[in-house]
Amino acid sequence: MAIQLDQVSYTYADKSLWRQTALHDITLGIPKGSLTGIAGATGSGKSTLLQLFNGILKPTQGAVNVLDVVIRAGEKSPKLLPLRRRVGLVFQFPEQQMFEDTVEKDLIFGPLNFGMSLEEAKERARNALLDMGLDLALLDRNPFRLSGGQMRKAAIASVLAMDPDIVVLDEPTATLDPVSRAELIAQLERLCRERGRTIIIVTHRMDELLPYADRWVLLKEGRIAFQGSGGELAADPAILEGCGLTVPHSLRYWRAVADRFGLHGEKPRLTAESLAKLIAGLSPAGAERSGEHEEKRDAHE
Ligand SMILES: Nc1ncnc2c1ncn2[C@@H]1O[C@H](COP(=O)(O)OP(=O)(O)OP(=O)(O)O)[C@@H](O)[C@H]1O
Ligand SMILES: [Mg+2]
Repeated sequence: MAIQLDQVSYTYADKSLWRQTALHDITLGIPKGSLTGIAGATGSGKSTLLQLFNGILKPTQGAVNVLDVVIRAGEKSPKLLPLRRRVGLVFQFPEQQMFEDTVEKDLIFGPLNFGMSLEEAKERARNALLDMGLDLALLDRNPFRLSGGQMRKAAIASVLAMDPDIVVLDEPTATLDPVSRAELIAQLERLCRERGRTIIIVTHRMDELLPYADRWVLLKEGRIAFQGSGGELAADPAILEGCGLTVPHSLRYWRAVADRFGLHGEKPRLTAESLAKLIAGLSPAGAERSGEHEEKRDAHE
């Protein structure tokens, strides 16, 4: 497991003795190299959970094991700096993690801090920026004068520049336009499948992640309400409603098609393309048309 939580609770406490238990008795395992989606209504504890994954928050009960570094409630924490390099966290509000006066300085800060040469750090910075589809001209710009979407992509680039084993993102697509959203999810999926990184994404837009996530964790009022695959959610969407979430369109469409053609038990088709292809193959008219299309294509070739 990349991350294992055993009976973890977390309580925020301030000097006025006001206390808020944000997470209760969480037991959770996130396999290495997996892509996990985390969802839940606002205030359900998602951001709190993510901050336990790289030691920003320490459990008030239970134990958090991240890449074999164990942080246990009531005990002195182990050294967390190496963990911070290996677990990249992209905050919900990207401006929280930009602090330099140019994008380049922000991007090279992490790599330099972990002992890389300036030359190497700059190379990493450029590659990470390009990976995020941003223009290299942004390197000299003040990060606080970027648009919300550019700032978010730059914040993600500054985390990717450290080449972490685990990348944790809190609503990474929130301020992006539709094309950038799809590109970012595709980029994160590549990082997972081609480079074996463990990716964890908190999202309010389950639709965009459902076709790619290996597993889902749903939170309700600080407790785990569900852990399992998108297929299991597709089979029982009431789980989502029980967590105060609306059922994503892709699941609704799949359910409607599965009901109409008696396809329950089949692998759910959760993208518009895969569902359209399935329907075209199912309806006689569609099958004919797609057959004609194939013939034309064959003739053309
Ligand atoms: N710094 C803090 N001090 C005290 N309580 C906090 C703090 N941060 C969060 N909380 C409380 O902990 C609970 C969980 O908050 P959290 O931010 O983890 O929720 P969330 O699921 O990320 O919500 P959202 O979808 O709105 O981002 C909420 O009741 C919130 O009020
Ligand atoms: Mg949050």
